[in-house]
This record gives sequence, C-alpha cells and structure tokens, in this order.
Amino acid sequence: EKGGYRHFMLKEIYEQPRAVADTIAGRLKDDEGDVYLEDLGLEAEELGRIRRIFIIACGTSWHAGLVGKFYIEKLARVPVEVDIASEFRYRDPIIGEGDLAVLISQSGETADTLAALREARAKGGKAVSICNVVDSSIARESDGVIYTHAGPEIGVASTKAFTTQLVALYLLALRLGRVRGTLSAEDCRRQVAELLSLPRKIETALELDSAIEEIARTFVSARDFLYLGRGNQYPIALEGALKLKEISYIHAEGYPAGEMKHGPIALIDENLPVVVLAPRNETYEKVVSNMEEVRARGGRVIAVATRADESLRRSCDALVELPETTDDLMPVLTSIPMQLIAYHVAVLKGTDVDQPRNLAKSVTVE
Ligand code: M6R
Repeated sequence: EKGGYRHFMLKEIYEQPRAVADTIAGRLKDDEGDVYLEDLGLEAEELGRIRRIFIIACGTSWHAGLVGKFYIEKLARVPVEVDIASEFRYRDPIIGEGDLAVLISQSGETADTLAALREARAKGGKAVSICNVVDSSIARESDGVIYTHAGPEIGVASTKAFTTQLVALYLLALRLGRVRGTLSAEDCRRQVAELLSLPRKIETALELDSAIEEIARTFVSARDFLYLGRGNQYPIALEGALKLKEISYIHAEGYPAGEMKHGPIALIDENLPVVVLAPRNETYEKVVSNMEEVRARGGRVIAVATRADESLRRSCDALVELPETTDDLMPVLTSIPMQLIAYHVAVLKGTDVDQPRNLAKSVTVE
C-alpha cells in the first residue's frame, strides 16, 4: 500500500505532480480564458456581488489560506481576512449578506472548521469549501465545494493536500478575477499555462531529495530551527516549521523575514539553523540581506532559492535551488523542500513519521 516507499508521507510527497495535475484537470476553459469549478454552487452574478471573503481553517489548511489571500486580493481585488477556525467561531465575527466564507479542510471533518462554517452560514454569509475528502461533513454543509482530488492522505503530516489546496485557491482566484473583470482572458490564459507546467516543475524539485537528505544530516542535532519568508513565502515558512515540529519533535518557528530585527534575531547563534525562503522576486535582495544578518551573528543558513546569485551563495551554508515559476505559484515549489527537510530529519531521528505522537489525522473534537 505504500507503493514501495518507506512511509506514507514520502509516497504522498512523491504523488504531488499527479495530485496537482488532478486538481487542475477538467477545470480549464482555454478558449474562453476562464476556469470552470463544477461544484462551486455560486452563480457568476453572486460571485460578482461578494464584498469580503473570510478564509477559515486550521493547521496546514490555514497556511494554505494565508497564501490564498494573496491570490484573491491580487487577481480579484476582493478584501480577504484569514482566520483560524477556533478563533473565528468564538469572537462573534462580523459576517453576513455579501460575505463569502471559504473553509479549507483536507478531511472535511475538523470540528472547529465545521463549527465556523455553521456560524458563517447562520449569520447570512455564503460558504464554499475546499476539501479533499469527497462527501465529508464540511463539503456537504457548504453552498459549494472545490475538491482538491489529491487522493487519500494517510500520513498525519499533510503534504499533497496542502499543495493541491494552493492550486484550488488559485483556480478560485482566477475565476473570481474573471467574473469581476479584474483579470483579462489573456492574463488568465497566461496563468493557466503556468499552472499546467507545475507538475513537471514539482518533479524537478523532487529530484533534490538526496541533496536535501544530506542537508538534514548536517542539521539533525539542532534543538530549534527558525524559518523565514516574506510575502506569499511567509506562510510557507510557517508550514515548514509546522512540518518539522510535527514529525521530528524539534522546536521550530516561522517568521516574516522583515520581523527578524524585532525580536527573533536575539536567538541567533551557531546552534540555530535558519531556513530562508529566497526565490527571485520583488523582495529577493531584502531577504538576502536578512541572510547576511543571520550569518554575521554566527547563524547557519539553509537557503531555498531560484537562480541564486553570488551574494546569496556567499550568505548560506546550504543551498536548495528550485526551478522558476511565477511569483504566485512559487509557494507550491518551495513547499517541496519544506516537506523533505522535515521528513529526512524525522527519519534520521527515528521518530514515527506517519503517526507522530499525540496527533490525529482528523481532529473531530475541539
Ligand atoms: O483536515 P484538515 O485540513 O481540516 O486538518 C487541519 C489540521 O488539523 C491539519 O492540517 C494539521 O495541522 C496537519 N497535521 C498538518 O500537517
């Protein structure tokens, strides 16, 4: 059942090219430069009237939501708030007519996310969900659903569910952008072409597996890790830290790179490996200078980059170099080394990768 892999988690990491292709399959209308979401449950006119969007989820699905905010605000120009489900449901949220809740849940059974969905609908908001498990409670109780089609995820640490959630959110943002007139057919077509090239690029990223295993070997004895990212890479820093905590039991924190000076820099010494997400984008230089600051304090840097230049190479101890894609889709690719670092560190430490202590795959109680 593990298909020759040592753990379900590794199998699921390697399934991502196929899983992402399945999330996209049958949903593109290339002739019209649009996206088709078969079970969205909301008519174009309703989508056009949305004033605000609340993305609500827990854990890894919440991290996907944080990236989704970038997608929707950029492509559809609708303001988005991202909430942790257990926080949303207890604060008497201001949501109602004209608002759309987007619930994200791999299992579709997470108690807090289900309660948040009920709260949003009871207050008059519409709700669509992004779920992996077909016909799950959250999928059934929503006005519409976008299934991720990742296939069963057995490993407690979410991997392919996360990257397919990112793709589903991107499809939703493209659709909203088209309906609302903020995205032209031509721009949509261009983004879709990039989406279609993702599975191949994920395969290329997976070829870095043994290099990442070596990096894991170098840093496995660390007691704490810091993960830094900016913009849509900040949620990936959070996700990298969560993966490591869950399966290797090493304490890890994700931080926005620009916040480092405001506190966490005090932690830096040679015992704290810092994973820095530094793909080429608008803030590349700023992130590289954060790396230099870490190094100047004796910290050790693991850089995850694209087209690394001399200054980046000089400022890191280990480098993972990924293929390039658009800034929007880069979080899908940077997720791969986050998963593999956590996986290999956990295997080297001998923990139970698929069934980490104290965790359940689906959290159906509060
Ligand atoms: O099934 P859900 O997506 O609703 O689950 C949410 C979280 O419990 C889940 O993502 C959790 O954080 C994972 N163990 C992360 O790897």
